[in-house]
Amino acid sequence: MKKILGIVSSPRKLGNCELVIKEISRQIDVPHELSLLRLSDFSILPCKGCYTCLFKQQRCPLKDDLNTIIDALVEADAVILSAPTYLLDANAMLKVVIDRGLAFYAAADGLWGTPAIGVGVAGIEGKEGATVLGLQRFLSMFMADKKMCTMVYGALPGEVLLNEKNKAVIGDLAAALFRTAPEPKEPCCPLCGGDTFRFLGDNRVRCMLCSNAGTVDGATGTLVFHIEKSGHDLFLTDRDALSHRDWLREMKARFKEIKGDIAAITSEYKDDGTWIRPGKSDDA
Ligand SMILES: Cc1cc2nc3c(=O)[nH]c(=O)nc-3n(C[C@H](O)[C@H](O)[C@H](O)COP(=O)(O)O)c2cc1C
Repeated sequence: MKKILGIVSSPRKLGNCELVIKEISRQIDVPHELSLLRLSDFSILPCKGCYTCLFKQQRCPLKDDLNTIIDALVEADAVILSAPTYLLDANAMLKVVIDRGLAFYAAADGLWGTPAIGVGVAGIEGKEGATVLGLQRFLSMFMADKKMCTMVYGALPGEVLLNEKNKAVIGDLAAALFRTAPEPKEPCCPLCGGDTFRFLGDNRVRCMLCSNAGTVDGATGTLVFHIEKSGHDLFLTDRDALSHRDWLREMKARFKEIKGDIAAITSEYKDDGTWIRPGKSDDA
């Protein structure tokens, strides 16, 4: 019996994100039990950028529920992630967890390669902005094997299940989770499967998921991306992920080396400007 973890990034109970995960689970033909986790039920504080999680115990010093989420991810045989579009992106709850991602390295052995799918829900077709990229980023940072990430549409809670087009997409997602072959998807980054790019000029592009650059060729009528590895990749292989962790660790020694120079420059800026503090507004 497989253990599937459904991560709901929407705070709405019985909303579209929750329902879509439950419907995908119903359509998965591999015997499984479904556990659910609603991110807004958990206290997840913003990362403070202290890097403590990379050293010694490899535990984040913030007192919150992050480790319960990491433990649930490690326990899972497969993951279904859903997030609503808020203002043209996946909602902020998802990014708060992504920002804590350096703490995931401590659990890399248990996380690497977990099959996962991501589904975004937007109210208006075409107004999902960067939601799919947000889902892909979450799944990449927790070192999953991304089988498919896509959108469905519905504004009112439950509406997502009324639309025939969504039903077909939900079927595709259910079929993808335990599929061994890669997702048949074109055009995309040949290194990471990302499908969001920044145009750099002179035919050059950068993949917004793995951050590698290359060229795009449309001569045959189909866009083909030629993207090269940079030599400093964050998640393409398990080795890349751990090398990046090690590179971050080395920053501590580098910081010690140039601490004096940094202090000399930053102290000159110490008293510039006037800080606005919380509690100044009438309704605070
Ligand atoms: C604060 C907020 C911002 C939203 N922004 C967008 C948006 O930019 N584009 C869009 O298509 N839908 C947007 N929506 C609609 C939601 O994506 C949609 O209602 C979705 O079904 C919510 O999923 P849920 O029921 O799981 O919460 C927004 C909804 C809220 C509450």
